[in-house]
Amino acid sequence: MALLLDGERQVVAANRAARDFFSIDASRLPGGLLEVTREGRLLEALRAGSPEAEFRLSHHKKIVQARLVPGPMPGDTLVFLVDVTEVRRLETVRREFVANLSHELKTPLTSLRLAAESLLGDPPAPTRERFAQRVVKEADHLAGIVANLRQLVEIEGGVMAVQNSRFDLNELIAETVERLGLDRPLQVQAPEHLQLTTDRVKLAQALSNLLDNAARFSPPGSPIEIRAVQDQGELRLTVRDHGPGISPEHWGRVFERFYKVDPARSRATTGSGLGLAITKHLVMGLGGRVWTEAAPEGGQVFGIALPSD
Ligand SMILES: Nc1ncnc2c1ncn2[C@@H]1O[C@H](COP(=O)(O)OP(=O)(O)OP(=O)(O)O)[C@@H](O)[C@H]1O
Ligand SMILES: [Mg+2]
Repeated sequence: MALLLDGERQVVAANRAARDFFSIDASRLPGGLLEVTREGRLLEALRAGSPEAEFRLSHHKKIVQARLVPGPMPGDTLVFLVDVTEVRRLETVRREFVANLSHELKTPLTSLRLAAESLLGDPPAPTRERFAQRVVKEADHLAGIVANLRQLVEIEGGVMAVQNSRFDLNELIAETVERLGLDRPLQVQAPEHLQLTTDRVKLAQALSNLLDNAARFSPPGSPIEIRAVQDQGELRLTVRDHGPGISPEHWGRVFERFYKVDPARSRATTGSGLGLAITKHLVMGLGGRVWTEAAPEGGQVFGIALPSD
């Protein structure tokens, strides 16, 4: 977008993009820069006179790059503005992503190196075995992070290919539970013969991530409940555990990638903080939504809602 200013810093003309952006009524030009744009920073930039500047427009809540060029008449200035808000936002997202990832990789790498170093010292057999097991465990953890990342990048990249089929929900639940090898009292409450049309593999994975969390973040031996309810064209699938739960201020954020409620505790359980982000993207790709809430009698509930007929 472009504005033409005269020597008095009056806006003489504005192109269509600038008129739209600042809601300028062309019939009211020329007008003072501040009155026309309502942006003090623009006036400041102009006063400073440097040919290029980047700043945040407080009234329009955008980050813009401004380029000042002498106009056609002596004293005139042409102001070119480019909205770079989204570019800057993406840069921040990318920076945070790399920072989080490095942090996530550092712990298993440190542990791996320590174990390998200890092995170099040729310790006695029982110790050797313990360190070797540590190496295997940390390598698996690293492989898990990489696999999760790859999947997240794929689905966030919007190339998620949905393969719908019609299947029995109870069978899917049973299969998922078995594959996870959950060593917990399990209670499944779902309408019998409930048929569902969606991407079976993706739903299984989403459910599997919730079950994995329910088991990981609750005391060994405590029960886990799976419920399915069909209501108003929606299938709601919930997983409830009997753990300490999550305090409400984190509910909105646990679905963000790398977000952990209690990093110290999660580290001990070797999670990467990607499971729920993956679940959310998978479910959204299936046209559904995810949520979490406290169970009235304690423990945390994680839910998946999918459109159903
Ligand atoms: N059922 C639960 N009870 C308590 N806290 C939970 C529960 N599920 C998730 N959380 C919290 O939310 C965080 C994010 O969960 P998420 O599944 O994304 O990551 P993770 O389990 O730590 O690692 P990953 O799933 O990538 O192996 C967890 O680290 C944990 O702090
Ligand atoms: Mg998880």
